[in-house]
Amino acid sequence: MTTVIDGKQVAASVIDAVKTASQALTEQTGVKTGLAVVIVGNDSASHAYVSSKSKMAKECGFTSVQHTLPEETTQEELATLVQTLNRDESLHGILVQLPLPKHLNSEPIIQSILPEKDVDGLHVVNAGKLATGDLDGGLVSCTPAGAMVFVKRTHGEDLSGLNAVVIGRSNLFGKPMAQLLLAANATVTIAHSRTKDLASVCRNADILVAAVGRPEMVKADWVKPGATVIDVGINRVAAPEKGEGKSRLVGDVAFEECAKVAAVITPVPGGVGPMTIAMLMANTVIAAYRKAGKAAPKF
Ligand code: GUN
Repeated sequence: MTTVIDGKQVAASVIDAVKTASQALTEQTGVKTGLAVVIVGNDSASHAYVSSKSKMAKECGFTSVQHTLPEETTQEELATLVQTLNRDESLHGILVQLPLPKHLNSEPIIQSILPEKDVDGLHVVNAGKLATGDLDGGLVSCTPAGAMVFVKRTHGEDLSGLNAVVIGRSNLFGKPMAQLLLAANATVTIAHSRTKDLASVCRNADILVAAVGRPEMVKADWVKPGATVIDVGINRVAAPEKGEGKSRLVGDVAFEECAKVAAVITPVPGGVGPMTIAMLMANTVIAAYRKAGKAAPKF
């Protein structure tokens, strides 16, 4: 029987642990965990993401601050806001929603966030800590951290002897995911659009993680029988069967056919997606514990 991972359920268990941890921190130290989310411009998908982040932060008992800035915000105005949030002692996490409007340069903004408040794990200090295996000192990018929760709940903490293949080499996902798998002792291959015979590389994977942004690219004959398949893709495709002009979400994995070969697989939607916000909350409470000089909880 194939196990289909219920991402909503796993995310809810992480959120429960975050609530307990933030309550315990307040009881022990009087500190209330705080998260600031910044959004610039009018992108409706980004607004939807940001509202769910702010709402979840409130549900977790955090101080939740949202800064909604107009499309015409300048680089200097945004930089000044980040400096103000960096100095605010009541805030432990800062997230600047990406992508920013085209006239803004996101990289200097992200790099100006204090690394200890960079709950997105995008600062070079946090990327460097992960690359050097310092998992307890930095903050890890939320989506790979969430995917790794699935891997560890399936295979345990130690992946010795297992082959893991990550398709995709982005800074936001592919590279940090590969480093997390490596830190857990997996034998890791990073595959990408220039990889020769991608199908046969994937067939070698006990753990196959797809993050390429190509709808249903991974087929059943790419999957090793009994493998764990984690689908990080979110692609909107036309769904004429639902009516004219309708669409649906699919992952990077052809779910129905791959589910027949895999032992464990994540669906889209309802797999990795809900984990991203849960791990953002986890990173924020971790940052608050560290600031208070307390050993941070693990998720
Ligand atoms: N836009 C889409 N996903 C993310 C994310 O994880 N972090 C930020 N900052 N922006 C995003």
